[in-house]
This record gives sequence, C-alpha cells and structure tokens, in this order.
Amino acid sequence: MQMCGLPRLEARMLLEHVLDKPRAWLLAHDTDVVAPELAAKFLTLCAERRRGTPMAHLIGYREFMAYRFMVTQDVLIPRPETELLVEVGLEVVRNHPAPAILDLGTGSGAVAISLALLRPEAFVVATDLSVPALSVAQQNAQALGAKIQWWQGSWYEALPPEGRFDLIVSNPPYIASDDHHLKLGDLRFEPLSALTDGADGLMAIRAIIHGATAHLNSGGQLWIEHGYDQSERVQDLLRDQGFSGVRSMQDLAGIARVTGGAL
Ligand SMILES: C[S@@+](CC[C@H](N)C(=O)[O-])C[C@H]1O[C@@H](n2cnc3c(N)ncnc32)[C@H](O)[C@@H]1O
Repeated sequence: MQMCGLPRLEARMLLEHVLDKPRAWLLAHDTDVVAPELAAKFLTLCAERRRGTPMAHLIGYREFMAYRFMVTQDVLIPRPETELLVEVGLEVVRNHPAPAILDLGTGSGAVAISLALLRPEAFVVATDLSVPALSVAQQNAQALGAKIQWWQGSWYEALPPEGRFDLIVSNPPYIASDDHHLKLGDLRFEPLSALTDGADGLMAIRAIIHGATAHLNSGGQLWIEHGYDQSERVQDLLRDQGFSGVRSMQDLAGIARVTGGAL
C-alpha cells in the first residue's frame, strides 16, 4: 500500500519525523488535522524521497545495533549487515577483561561506538581519513555516551606508532571503481570515498591486512567486512600475511560478508 507515492512505512517515518511524534501518538491521533506548514514539509520530504534521497538523509538518522546514529552526506549510512562485524568483534573479545579495539574507517562511528557501548571497559580507538566523517562520529559518540579515542589519517598512518590492539575491525570501501552499483539507489548520495577504493575493490583491504601485523597484539584478531564475492580473496590475503584460523562469517542473507583471523 502506498501513501503520497511511497511505501506506507517510509511515508509514516517521514510523518513521524515532521511531527516529531512516535508511532503510538500518530495512531492515537489519526484524525487530527495537520498544520499546513507541517503538511507542506511532509509533502516536500515525500517528493525528495520519490526522487531517491535516502530515508536516513531525510530523517537525519539510522538505527544500528539498536542505537540511533546521526547521518549526514559526509558518512556512509550504516548498513544492517555491518552489525555482523560488531557481533563477531564482541565474540572475539568476550573473554578479554579490557580489550584494546581499533575501528579503521569509522564513518558515522557506528561500529566503534556500538563496541564501546557494549564493552564499556574496552579501550576503543577509531580512525577515518575524512575530517567531516570524524566530526559526525564524534557527535554520535557524545550523544550516545561512548568513550572513544579518535585519530584522523589514512589507515594505520593515523595512529601513534606504538598503537597495538587485541582486535582490529574495519568496513572499508570495497566496491570496485567501475562497479555500476555506484550509480544506483542510496549509493548515489553517499561519499564516493566511503564506497570505493578507486581501484579493484581490494586495495583498501590489502592495506589494512598488510598493516595489521604491526598493530596487533600477539593472538590479536583482524576482521574485515567485504563485498559479496570477495571472501575467498580476503581469506587468501590474510593467509599470505601469516594469519591463522582464517574464516568467513555469513550475514542474515547467507552471504559471506565478514572475514578474519588471528595473528
Ligand atoms: C564503507 S565506509 C564504513 C563506515 C562505517 N565504519 C560503517 O561501517 O558504517 C568506509 C569508511 O572508510 C573511510 N576511508 C576511506 N579511505 C580511507 C583511508 N585511506 N583511511 C582511513 N579511512 C578511510 C571513509 O571515509 C569511510 O568513512
């Protein structure tokens, strides 16, 4: 069923956003007349959505691991499949009393902040090349009460040289630069530098795997999110770099989505 030319769920989310009221309020007031300026704002948002603007940009946030993350055009919109990276990371450090965790390419901060909130005794460091992305991540951390150390720069270059971790996680840009998906759907509205490495889709992953040996504690683990068809190549890269116990985990769609191993 459609409402103002959109799936009902999307239209309802836009109405909740414009009225600044939760769903229960809308249900209880379904015959109330909406003020003309709010109705106009709602119709404008509906039109933007019909033109393809992502819902997260229209309402300003996206839920991830049951937390609300502010999203702007400077960051990747956190994806449900990335929750697997957080879940795997939590499992890796489950028995560690105070793990040191690094999130490379943090974007909105979704991964680092979720880990910090779910393991408050962890020391969590997050990096990004993008200064505007780091600003969004810092605002999210403040709003959600997460304690994170932030560094700006390219992969490990952002870190002080002595930085060593029990767990490194990353959801790097992994779409090949010539992949036609970059011109479709929400991807058209997200920063290109968050989506593609400008090469074959494995360049950032190679850099992250290569640099991990100098930044993992003994027995530490590296886990990387990657494209639907990249798991075997990521496994090979990890083994070539001396990682053991290399394996991939499947997302809810049954796609090998996250690959990692121990040093
Ligand atoms: C796919 S997004 C992931 C964002 C967030 N971790 C998430 O899962 O929602 C990749 C992130 O890597 C960052 N990035 C791209 N190149 C980088 C580099 N050379 N060094 C550090 N971060 C980089 C981008 O700015 C972007 O925020």
